[in-house]
Amino acid sequence: KIKGLIFDLDGVLVFTDKFHYQAWKTMADELGVYFDETINHRLRGVSRMDSLEIILERYEGPDLSLREKEKLAEKKNEIYRTLLESMTPDDVTKEVRDTLTKLREKGYKLAIGSSSKNAKFILEKVELKDAFDAISDGNNITKSKPDPEVFLKAAEYLGLPPKACMVVEDAEAGIKAAKKGGMYAAGIGEAAKSINADESLKTFSELLDIVDK
Ligand code: G6P
Ligand code: MG
Repeated sequence: KIKGLIFDLDGVLVFTDKFHYQAWKTMADELGVYFDETINHRLRGVSRMDSLEIILERYEGPDLSLREKEKLAEKKNEIYRTLLESMTPDDVTKEVRDTLTKLREKGYKLAIGSSSKNAKFILEKVELKDAFDAISDGNNITKSKPDPEVFLKAAEYLGLPPKACMVVEDAEAGIKAAKKGGMYAAGIGEAAKSINADESLKTFSELLDIVDK
């Protein structure tokens, strides 16, 4: 029986893909590395440093030290944070807000399970922080999705066993992480067609029908 829901943030509750893309693109252009939307796609759910490594697959310049890589990731993050500043509560749909409220009214515990170190900042910008009982994000993990760590921490913060949790994800890496962690996985958006997901959501509010099943 499901007692808690763990939500990925980027691509499920808010749509920050375009900001990630713009920020990585600016960094990549400066470094002279080819980067496009298709490569950006592979970065969903992947941590900042792992994302950088994927972008650097196309890099042909002299070897970069760890410090230089950290500088590049910092530069990307500065650009990304500036873009996030433009976010407002209007960036969360009424459907998402109402569904979260109704799930809570039904007694479900709600958590965030995001690889992002900017998760709390984003939740504050869109005024969604109070909708959750717990937040597990890029700041409390050492391994990013498809490792289940971020979701296992979220379940622990909620005080629930993994098998009582349903993860809602838009990325394949997240669906894999949920299954590895012993949780139910509901795919939405891109991940709605994942063969590894237990449930496929066409709309966010469908969650209200499937959790009680
Ligand atoms: C989310 C996004 C990824 C991003 C990661 C780290 O999982 O889907 O695209 O790379 O968070 O984000 P951060 O804000 O910590 O750089
Ligand atoms: Mg996502």
